[in-house]
Amino acid sequence: PTVFILNGPNLNLLGTRQPEVYGHETLADIRRLCEDHAEGLGLSVDFRQTNHEGELVTWVQEARTAAAGLIVNAAAYTHTSVALLDALLAVDRPVVEVHLSNIHKREPFRHHSYVSKAAHGMICGFGSHGYVLALDAVARLIRSQKE
Ligand code: DQA
Repeated sequence: PTVFILNGPNLNLLGTRQPEVYGHETLADIRRLCEDHAEGLGLSVDFRQTNHEGELVTWVQEARTAAAGLIVNAAAYTHTSVALLDALLAVDRPVVEVHLSNIHKREPFRHHSYVSKAAHGMICGFGSHGYVLALDAVARLIRSQKE
């Protein structure tokens, strides 16, 4: 089974972007972390990043048939995108939302998430380890669906 891990705008800048908030790891580091951890769970990972809202929507649509589960860090589109929410609502697979930072500790405009309305659950505040936790959660949800 393949899990899509979709990352939104500015996450390509990880490592140099506000390291005090997002840490020093790059997105390539997180991708490797996910690939290694997924292997142990018997999953493969299709890890992607885009700065474009429409591309994110297209990838979520693709996940409806091509993915067994979906992990999404929609970055700033989390707080703005009804289009992304609508796409996620059409996915009949486990969806887990991830944020590196604890969005509830930050500015009020980051407290609301459209993604959460379509997600099984959300993990935030654990940095890159959040992706590992999300993979564990998705693996468990995929397994429980099969039973
Ligand atoms: C983020 C939190 C968002 O509020 C922000 O716009 C991001 C990253 C996170 O991973 O902590 O770009 O999704």
